[in-house]
Amino acid sequence: MSDLPRPPVRGLPVPDRPAMAGFEPDLTVDPNLVNLDDYERAAAERIPAGPLAYFTGGALDERTLRDNRAAFDRRRMIPRVMTDVAEVDTGVELLGRRWPTPIWIAPTALQRMAHPDGELATARAAAARGITVTLSSSASTDMGDIAEAGGPRWYQVYLLADPGARRAMVERAVSLGYEALVMTVDLQRLGRRERDIRVGFRIPEGVGLPNIARAAGVGDEQAADVAFVSRLTWDDLEWVAGFGLPVVVKGILHPDDARLAVAHGAAAIDVSNHGGRQLDGAIASLDALPAVLEAVAGRVPVLMDGGVRRGTDALIALALGATAVGIGRPVIWGLAVDGEAGVGRVLDIITGELEQAMALAGVSSVTELNTIRVV
Ligand code: FNR
Ligand code: LAC
Repeated sequence: MSDLPRPPVRGLPVPDRPAMAGFEPDLTVDPNLVNLDDYERAAAERIPAGPLAYFTGGALDERTLRDNRAAFDRRRMIPRVMTDVAEVDTGVELLGRRWPTPIWIAPTALQRMAHPDGELATARAAAARGITVTLSSSASTDMGDIAEAGGPRWYQVYLLADPGARRAMVERAVSLGYEALVMTVDLQRLGRRERDIRVGFRIPEGVGLPNIARAAGVGDEQAADVAFVSRLTWDDLEWVAGFGLPVVVKGILHPDDARLAVAHGAAAIDVSNHGGRQLDGAIASLDALPAVLEAVAGRVPVLMDGGVRRGTDALIALALGATAVGIGRPVIWGLAVDGEAGVGRVLDIITGELEQAMALAGVSSVTELNTIRVV
């Protein structure tokens, strides 16, 4: 045999990887932690019963909680072929920033119940990847510490009843470089979560609500008693928008509310039912998405969250027209399993799945997503 490289046979592609690449076991992956559901199972073994009920649970019969997942099960994609997907770019432009992936971290409260490093570990994992993290008003870590992690960050706003405290909390987020305010509009009061009642869930000793405590000028012990406004209306959105940051209105399901949100200053809409934790029987986020997109008609970006557990789920929502998808509970599962590294793995798994799904669906960038169909 000659040592000279053989010229490629005309018409046959020169393989750039071994023919059966992908079939060897990937020894860098823990076989028990291959996907996000594995993280959920592993986390359930590590989190005490009370916090686990709080993190896992939904309201009443958990119909909406289950339906957030089932809605993805009901959808199928019609992919494209013979497009050049040698290089796939998952990047997306949103509110003036380039995101490496259209996946963002939705706000979840009290993350230090899952791991001592809590929200800080989440923020560091996200920052290392340029992924946007949303800090909850009910976070167990100070918003200043999250700012120090240095990554792209949004602040989720619950309006405190006391006007001075309300303003103080938002002003501090603005001064700390949070890039958008996520105004959650579906917590007029807390949903009834029966798992919490059955296990007698209480916030454990040593886990506080420092951002509420600081804004209200109370000690950690009293923070859980600080009241949110009992009356939330569109005027409040205008008030939040008045701080000058883009406002993402989180918790929209009805197309008329999407129109009203845009009219009152929303820079983006997040289609969400709060992970099934508020009104049980509310429509699944994915099912609500198409009508909201139609109502918004491209005036502002539309995001969604609820039940996203796979890159293929993300792709379905994006192909329907969402600009980005949020994940809530999976971040907590990653945190419980392995702190910052666990959150990082969760983010890498789902982003990797999305990249692969895009290639297999024949789209090399998010701008081509409208070429595939979802039925
Ligand atoms: C939440 N969510 C939430 N939303 C919000 O705006 N502020 C908050 O403080 C919280 N807290 C919170 C705690 C926990 C334990 C969960 C599970 C959820 C809702 C969250 O942002 C998001 O809408 C859902 O979690 C998305 O659904 P998945 O990804 O958990 O299915
Ligand atoms: C929850 C609130 C804090 O869902 O958003 O528990």
